[in-house]
Amino acid sequence: MRTKIILDLDTGIDDTLALTYALGSPELELIGVTGTYGNVTVDTGVRNSLAILELFGYPEVPVYPGITQARAKESFEVLEISEFIHGHNGIGEASLPEPTASARTESAVEFLVDSVRAYGDELIIVPTGPSTTIAAAIEADPYFAAHARIIMMGGAVSVPGNVLPWAEANINQDPEAADLVFRQAQDVTMIGLDVTLQTLLTTKQTQIWRDLGTVGGHFLATAADYYIKAYEVTSPHLGGCGLHDPLAVAVAADPSLVTCLATNLKVDLSGPTRGRTIADESRLNSSVKTAQVALEVDQERFLEEFMARLSTLAAATPALERGLN
Ligand code: BDR
Ligand code: CA
Repeated sequence: MRTKIILDLDTGIDDTLALTYALGSPELELIGVTGTYGNVTVDTGVRNSLAILELFGYPEVPVYPGITQARAKESFEVLEISEFIHGHNGIGEASLPEPTASARTESAVEFLVDSVRAYGDELIIVPTGPSTTIAAAIEADPYFAAHARIIMMGGAVSVPGNVLPWAEANINQDPEAADLVFRQAQDVTMIGLDVTLQTLLTTKQTQIWRDLGTVGGHFLATAADYYIKAYEVTSPHLGGCGLHDPLAVAVAADPSLVTCLATNLKVDLSGPTRGRTIADESRLNSSVKTAQVALEVDQERFLEEFMARLSTLAAATPALERGLN
């Protein structure tokens, strides 16, 4: 039986790679996408998700708009650094046809809560942006906190952050929401920078997509090359771009890709380290551990799976018009 999955995306470039990883995974059945803000606004992210689903032949997957800004804020504006990394349109200035489908009118929170009630532990929720919508689902229904299986991209425990020396981007957008998730959800796997920065994509791999000569291959290569170029400026020591969000989806398909530490997590909400993910000292000796923090990754096997799945998916899209590559 395939594992049902919901992705909560702020559809920038690595979210795009996460979405396509899910579509290319025979073990996973994507039952819906919820849209959060972060790399882009909710509107732009939802539009990107719809357009990507159509491009790769899955127009029936429903997309639900989520909450548009952090719990402690009244509005959201895309940060300059996010625009630099993901492009103005969130997909590295790659152009995609306007989607013909529209977002659903039911809210993302309702969809999340109803899905956990309907499918229980047959479902995995993979948030790859700020935790605001997931936190709202926890508050909306105690059943959600008790039964949701969450594999989230966010945080950094054993390595420095990427937006501040102690804070990772998704957590930093809404520390209160992430803290609520860590304190109340009973089954959270944290796929943080500890492991995602060990998973790198280079232009050697994106050329394989470009060489397919399909619209899907061209799109993936164009978006990923933009991301790789941004990483050459922000993190030249890495030698590629981090495959943050797709690794969380890969772990939903195959948990043996990572090795985890069982603990209880929290986020610092005040003081100079606001936004830091760390073990909750008040629950250190509790026999119940609600979080698994990924600390090691089989990056070679992950990259092989990543390339195989996305290449197969992209190969099945229509041929590119001549002259466009
Ligand atoms: C995370 O921040 C976003 O920019 C990426 O999409 C990823 O989810 C990495 O810190
Ligand atoms: Ca993301």
